[in-house]
Amino acid sequence: MTFKSLTAEIPEARLIPRHIAIIMDGNGRWARQRMLPRVAGHKRGVESVRTMVRACIERSVEHLTLFAFSSENWRRPAAEVDTLMELFVIALEREVDKLHKNGVRLRIVGNLERFGPRLNQLISEGEKLTHDNNRLTLNIAANYGGRWDILQAVNGLLQERGANEPITESELASRLCLADAPEPDLFIRTGGEQRVSNFLLWQLAYTELYFTDTLWPDFDADALDAAIASYRRRERRFGRTSEQLAEVMAKP
Ligand code: IPE
Ligand code: IPE
Ligand code: MG
Repeated sequence: MTFKSLTAEIPEARLIPRHIAIIMDGNGRWARQRMLPRVAGHKRGVESVRTMVRACIERSVEHLTLFAFSSENWRRPAAEVDTLMELFVIALEREVDKLHKNGVRLRIVGNLERFGPRLNQLISEGEKLTHDNNRLTLNIAANYGGRWDILQAVNGLLQERGANEPITESELASRLCLADAPEPDLFIRTGGEQRVSNFLLWQLAYTELYFTDTLWPDFDADALDAAIASYRRRERRFGRTSEQLAEVMAKP
């Protein structure tokens, strides 16, 4: 199923965002504050992922997309990159069955070509096992870059049907990694930085942005509720005026 994009169709207002996308930042600083190696922060970060999945299920969020490793994170010291890959393997080995029991559909989005065979095997097994679950879709963005996503979509289209006709918005959207999810309603970035860092560039066109200084390992269900509360206070105009919005709301 493909969803209408937020530029093509105005969605009905909801108290709970259907799709939350999170840049999980601040693991390294969390560790440094405690005089621990950065890896300790990444390990605690996995705990926050668990907490978030549970909280999103409890709140009936339908899609949760987490930025785990960007296409630029390969620039980090080799030892840190290796540790992150190991943690990814361990997390998949330990968590996939639990996710499945909880009705979570797992998807890994990004350029998987650079990952080793063990990781690729765990990814495809996990996706296959959980494919038919529908309580929550958990997208993990790994070796993901927003520019890469747009380019792979465009190149796929060019290959399939040439460049005879201009590419339409809906054609392109249907080729993006998250084509089977509505575009995010709420974007959260922990760790204090106020930037998008090449996350979902296309999909964030009309997403409400929320930035918090809380470091990812400290981000808990209460912190999520604060983000959702902020989201509820927003007026999502999608290009219209406040007066138009009030008229729409007043209609029975
Ligand atoms: C986010 O935390 C996790 C990844 C990017 C993999 P960081 O590792 O970026 O933590 P800080 O920003 O250095 O604190
Ligand atoms: C963004 O965090 C990527 C992930 C959380 C996976 P970074 O820590 O890599 O972002 P920058 O480098 O500060 O922009
Ligand atoms: Mg960071």
